[in-house]
This record gives sequence, C-alpha cells and structure tokens, in this order.
Amino acid sequence: MYDHQLHQRINQILQQHKIDIAGKDNFFYVRMMANADSMYQLYKEIYGSSTASEKHFNQLLGVMIHAYQQRSETLRKKDEEKADKGNWFLSNEIMGMSLYADRFCGDLSKLGNKLDYFEKLGVNFIHLMPVFESPEGESDGGYAVSNFRKVDERFGSNHDLEKLQKKMNDKGMYLMLDIVLNHTSHKHEWAMKAKQGDKHYQDYFYMYSDRSIPDEFEKSMPEIFPESSPGSFTYIEECNNWVMTVFHHYQWDLNYTNPLVFRDMLDNILYYANLGVDILRIDAPAFIWKQVGTTCQNLPEAHTLLRLIKQCVLIASPGMAILGEAIVAPKEIMKYFGTGSYTAKECDVAYNATHMALQWDMLATGDTRVMLAAQHEILQKPYGTTWITYTRCHDDIGLGYDDYMIRQAGYEPYGHRKFLQDYYSGNYDGSPATGALFSSNPKTGDARISGSLASLCGLEKALNDNDERAIELSVRKILLMQAHSFFLGGIPMMFYGDEAGYTNDYSYLNDPGKSYDNRWMHRPVIDWEKNKKIDIEGTIENRVFSATQRLISIRKKLEVVADYKNLTWLTPHNMHVAGYLRSFEDKKLYCVFNFSDRSAYLTWYAFKSHGVEPTVLYDHWTGMELPVGENYDHLVIEPYGFHLLEPR
Ligand code: GLC
Repeated sequence: MYDHQLHQRINQILQQHKIDIAGKDNFFYVRMMANADSMYQLYKEIYGSSTASEKHFNQLLGVMIHAYQQRSETLRKKDEEKADKGNWFLSNEIMGMSLYADRFCGDLSKLGNKLDYFEKLGVNFIHLMPVFESPEGESDGGYAVSNFRKVDERFGSNHDLEKLQKKMNDKGMYLMLDIVLNHTSHKHEWAMKAKQGDKHYQDYFYMYSDRSIPDEFEKSMPEIFPESSPGSFTYIEECNNWVMTVFHHYQWDLNYTNPLVFRDMLDNILYYANLGVDILRIDAPAFIWKQVGTTCQNLPEAHTLLRLIKQCVLIASPGMAILGEAIVAPKEIMKYFGTGSYTAKECDVAYNATHMALQWDMLATGDTRVMLAAQHEILQKPYGTTWITYTRCHDDIGLGYDDYMIRQAGYEPYGHRKFLQDYYSGNYDGSPATGALFSSNPKTGDARISGSLASLCGLEKALNDNDERAIELSVRKILLMQAHSFFLGGIPMMFYGDEAGYTNDYSYLNDPGKSYDNRWMHRPVIDWEKNKKIDIEGTIENRVFSATQRLISIRKKLEVVADYKNLTWLTPHNMHVAGYLRSFEDKKLYCVFNFSDRSAYLTWYAFKSHGVEPTVLYDHWTGMELPVGENYDHLVIEPYGFHLLEPR
C-alpha cells in the first residue's frame, strides 16, 4: 500500500545521498518506492516502531542506498536485462556445479583456467563453496566465517575472486556464493569483542551469564551435530558466559532480535551482490530466529526476516536471486517460497531436499511409492520460484520426509529408515553401497548418510571386487539418479567429482580438522591426471562424463523442461518405474526411470492417459524412435535404465 509519510521520509534520505530520482537512478527509485511499504511493514513486524528502531530503519535505508551506489554499471545493466527476462532462473539452459575451489583445482585463480572444463561438460552456473576467511581446523568447510569480506588465503585473494567473476560473466556463466547468515566463527571480530566483554557485541549473540536460559532453550532444541558438538550452548571462559552454538561449538549464533545484526548482515549480503553474485545461497535460514519452548527452527519470524531481505535485495540489487538452504520437513521447505500475500516473494529458490532423499529411497528399495506419496506436497511450489535439484551435495543425506508418506506406501517408518541407513552405510547384507552414518543420535535413533554419489551407487565396491557387471550397474545407477534430477524441473546442481565417477575420499581421516566429520568423505580432492581419463574411451571416467555431458546437452535443448510449473506425475502402472511428464505449449516429454535391478515393463497406456495419444516416441537419450504399441503391450526398460520420450 502507498504510505505518503514513508514516501516523504525516503525522498529526504535519497536527497541526502544525492540520488537522481528522475534521471539516471530512476529504476532504483521506482524499485524503492514500489517495495518501501512492504519492507517497512516487515521491518516493524520484527523490530517494532520505537524511536530507536525507526533510527535503525533509516540506517537500513542508508545501507541499501550505499550498496546501490557502489553497484557497477555492468551489474546494473545485468539487473535490467534480468528484469526484462522475468524469472531468468527458471530456464532449462542453466546447469550448475557446486565445488570447493581448493579441492577442485587449488585456488580461485586456477579455477579461472578451468572454465573450459565446465564449458565442455555444459556447466554454466558455479556454486563456490565458502571462500571467505574461516579458521583452519574450525571452519566447518568454510561455514564458520571469521571475516565476511575477505577471501581466505587458502583460496587466493579478493582480487582473484573478482577476476574469476568477470571471466565467468564474460562467458555468460552464473555465480552462486553463500552468506552464512545464522552464525559467525568464534574468531569473527564481533565474537572476539564479545569475548573481551564488549556489551555492544555481546548483544550480537545469544549470551547468558548462567545456565538458566540455555537450559530452558535446550529442553526443546534438537541437536544438530550430536556426536561432535552435543548441546546448543558453549561455555566461553574468557567472558564467563554461555553462548548459543547450534551447530559446532565454534559457530556462534547471531541474534537477529538485535536490529544492528540485521543491518550489518544486510550490508554483507549487498556486498556479495556487488561482487556479481547471481544467486545468493542463504545458509541455514531455518535457524535464524530463536524462541524458548520451540525447536528454534522454521519460526514465523525467520520467514519475516527472509522476506525483508528479499525486499531489500529487490531494491538494491534486483538481479540477485535468493536461495534458502532450508533442509527441513517437506511442508516446512515449501514455506520458504513465501505464503499468503508473500507467495513467491520470499526465497526464489530452495533445495528440493525432499525429492533428493526420496531418490535415494527409491534406489535402495526399487519402489517408487514413498516418493509418489510426497509429491502432492512438492507440487505446491508457486509459479515463479524454482528448485535446486540434486542427487548429492557437500552435506549428508537426511531422511527427513514425513512418516505418513512412508506409511502410505505400506512401510513402517522406523524400520524403513533403519533399512535405508543400513543399506547405504554398508550394514545391509547384499547392499553394494559404501557410505557411512553421519550424526547418529542414539537418543532419537536418528542418523543421516554420508558418501559420494558413485560410492552410494556401488561403484567403490564394484571396483574393489573387480566386478565388471557390478561396475556397469553402478554406472547406470549414477546416470539414472542424475537424469532423474536433471529433467524434473529446477536448476540441476551437480557436485564436483560426480561428473567423473569419484568414489569416497578417505584422506580426511588423516586431518584432525576434518576427521570428526565424515561428510568430508564425499568432498574429494580432484586428481587431474585421473580426470584426463574422461577423454579415454571406455574408462569409467569417460563413461560417466560423456553420458553426463549428453544429458546436459539434451536438457539445454528442450524448453519443455524449464520450470514453468509444468510437471505431472504419470499414473503409476509399475511401482518400480518413476515417470513424469513435462509439458510446455504444444511440446511434451515423458521421462521414465526404472529404479529396480530387473527389467521393468510399462504398459503403453501410460503414455496415452495424459491428453494425447502419441504413435511414435522419440527417445532423446538413445536417439531411437519407438512406435507406441497396444495397451496390452509394454515398453521394456532395462535395469536402472531410463528414457526421455518426446511424441513425434
Ligand atoms: C548448512 C551447510 C552445512 C553446515 C551448516 C552450518 O547446512 O550446508 O555444511 O554445516 O549449514 O553452517
């Protein structure tokens, strides 16, 4: 709604900053005025309207104006181009990879020389795992940031990052960086000052002089890393205080009830925007608001804060989309896209963590029913938002979908999850997977799963056993999993190494800064000699790489797989086959995947019950034309095989 007083107030501040509202800064001015009221309302929802909070609101406006003024001409032009395109991130032409610069190739400057590798594969969107300063040995893979503005020497310099971004931009590639919003490292300047007793900075954290409030909190807060960092508070000897540390003991939770924390972190967000970030990954947003008596996850205020961030970004750097890394229950994930009048106005992108885990469920059981039971939830994603679709990332696989989904498929939830944990951690007789349990919590029976795509698909064991048939099956599984997530809708995000079939890397066990966290087993150090094999016909590296490359090029050619809310699940005719239909305008693509180790028979009727009756289907995967048979006849899909079928 239009608010005249607010308009006047903003005009005044803009004038002080010499913003040319009718001239060159007009696009900024329009954005500011269009979003001012909702931004102000969201702000007041959290911080009220006391004299102090009104003062802080003005400061927030100052932060945004300053960031806009710092934004380069190139980025401003890109903002306009993206605005003209609309929701640019829905495109089928975007293909992502997530990687650690140091483990991938040494550092950021060397990464600049690897862009041809990405181009060869078809990747044009890179998620650089955290590169900002983080204490070695206490870094949580870079998610314990001690300086939000300084690239860690391990990765190079700020200049290297800027150079890389420019090079990527020139090639039309997109960049994703993280903002670790929920916490800082205990070595961050704010934490250091708090330790020294500086009250101003102690208020940046949840700090208490005795255990009474921490005890209250801990009654209802689940533990995130129960094995390596039990509890949610850490005693800080220097200042004789307890500080909230939901993740590791060296990650101090920021206190967003303090408007200065919001102001300073928004400043960091916009700093990243001005580095040329196309999608900002907001790390662990589910945790940013705390309230005694709750799990301190997914609270309504966390959503209000994210909406406020979205409004501020829309004004200062509209070309940057927001990804909320909420790896929570299916129903809760959906809320990060916004609800009510904020539908599609919170995070533009979220991880399809539910589906990721369900793919692993299907692969272990050969049964698609639990996955299907979850779809009514996932399909509610609002138009204009999208998923990151993925099979593996740097984190563990959590089996966080709901019990009722498991029950609906006829399984008992505890036993079903236990089976999956055993299957992937190598504790189930006959399982080819070599993963491990992560963060087992004996109190709750909960455990997540670590392991690389290839190892979880059985390649490591097959290679050790020198079993050619098992190798073939594991390669098929790798491609089945990738294909299923590449065509589902959303931005596919591969994890580095998976494109060349990397199995688990156990070198982390020799590093005391990593050995306590088995997620490092699936964060490989790339051996570029080995990678040369991607060009040697018949090698595993070549089989996986060239097939992945082909899948990517198919995806990029087919606009029907862009994420236009155009996904329909095929009526199941065979519980081993996951099948979805992608449609756009007069185009259709049937994607069918056999998750079992036997050939699967799918009635041709499956292709005739969705508005069209194709007579010939062209398989983009095999390049073959398949005549559609009678309803009593079947398409036979080989074990762990799949088809991408377009009616001709
Ligand atoms: C996110 C990251 C994970 C990290 C955690 C704490 O979930 O993906 O790697 O441990 O946040 O920052």
